[in-house]
Amino acid sequence: MMHAAYKILHFAGIAALMLSLGALSLHAFGGGKREDTPARPLVLATHGLGLVLMLVSGFGMMARLQLSYGAPWFWGKVLLWLVLGGLVALLARAPKAARFVWPALPVLVGLGGTFAYFLVRSPR
Ligand code: HEM
Repeated sequence: MMHAAYKILHFAGIAALMLSLGALSLHAFGGGKREDTPARPLVLATHGLGLVLMLVSGFGMMARLQLSYGAPWFWGKVLLWLVLGGLVALLARAPKAARFVWPALPVLVGLGGTFAYFLVRSPR
């Protein structure tokens, strides 16, 4: 698969992830409970799809660009991915965390882009 195609999927994954985490944060802000919204399965499916898309396309680009799995930037990205996956559980258990999750989301995406920048420039 072409590098450009992986990249588009990577961005689509990020969009799906931000959409779902934004929706879950807003719901948590409003004091909503898990069972309060009929859209929860859709939101969770969007979150899961986003995670899978990002991971598959991320590893696709790693292989295409022949990047090093030993680079700290790679592990930073894996950690970021794990954090974004875990935020669903955090919002469900501690809805008050939404006030921190909300502003953190764009920062985390910026961090992912920064890690990518250094990842593609670090020596193989
Ligand atoms: C294990 C998970 C991940 C892997 C293996 C991975 C891998 C990559 C790679 C190799 C690139 C470079 C593409 C290029 O320059 O052509 C990239 C780009 C990017 N990644 Fe990831 N990524 C992962 C997770 C994430 C996460 C969690 C975020 C943010 C939420 C993220 C955000 C970005 C962004 C914004 C770019 C674009 C950078 C640019 O165009 O210069 N990635 N990713």
